Amino acid sequence: MSVGGAIRREVVILEDKEALSRDAAHRFVFLANQKTRAGDLFHVALSGGSTPELLYGLLAALPFRDDVDWEKVHFFFGDERAVPPDHADSNYRMANAALFAPLGVPTANIHRMPAEEPDLDVAAHSYEAELRTHLAGSSTDAIPRFDLILLGMGPDGHTASLFPHKPALQERTRLVVASEPGLKPFVPRLTLTFPVLDAAAQVLFLVAGADKAATLHKVLNGPADPENLPSQSVAPTNGSLVWLVDRAAMGQ
Ligand code: 6PG
Repeated sequence: MSVGGAIRREVVILEDKEALSRDAAHRFVFLANQKTRAGDLFHVALSGGSTPELLYGLLAALPFRDDVDWEKVHFFFGDERAVPPDHADSNYRMANAALFAPLGVPTANIHRMPAEEPDLDVAAHSYEAELRTHLAGSSTDAIPRFDLILLGMGPDGHTASLFPHKPALQERTRLVVASEPGLKPFVPRLTLTFPVLDAAAQVLFLVAGADKAATLHKVLNGPADPENLPSQSVAPTNGSLVWLVDRAAMGQ
């Protein structure tokens, strides 16, 4: 949520999804090295959907794979679908196949959302505890601060699993909640909430493709419409917000 409406937002237009993913990879490496070379761990929340798969593949390949001290990177998720971790719709499955397995990331560094649990409310509380255990400054009343949160935007304007008109949009206390989707796949989800997204040091949206153009135009240029366009509400209070978009998504 913005403070007094004054948030810093940068929109970077790249030629296509390949260029967008390469730009994102450079940003990831720069931010990770800033932390790890100072002797700190780097905490990142990954996005799901299909757009980041290319980015994950780039990070797992040369030259990027040799540019990061992966043992010092801890991976979390912005949202997860209520399916087993080897299911085709699992965000973890995609990240594991494209990124964790090729890099040989230690399992202790991978913090997946347990969205296959039968009780999603219990699962949400357990992931909240996981965040508080690992993220800096996470006393009981503070909001954990990710170094980087990757996000996507659905054609309906949702981000993470914060869908238009759903109760999760109003959550201001809990860090993780169960949510209902407004789009396919129609399975319940776990999602980080706005307070966590807004506490990050850096939020990076990746948006590609002409099917996003009409919604993206409204999100970036239209009047505030938080119930219809949840992505519009992401506004780090003490961090930066960058939208990496390709020309097709910009309607160019
Ligand atoms: C999910 C997401 C979701 C996604 C957008 C964009 O699990 O569905 O994390 O918020 O990022 O829907 O998805 P695409 O990249 O597939 O367009």
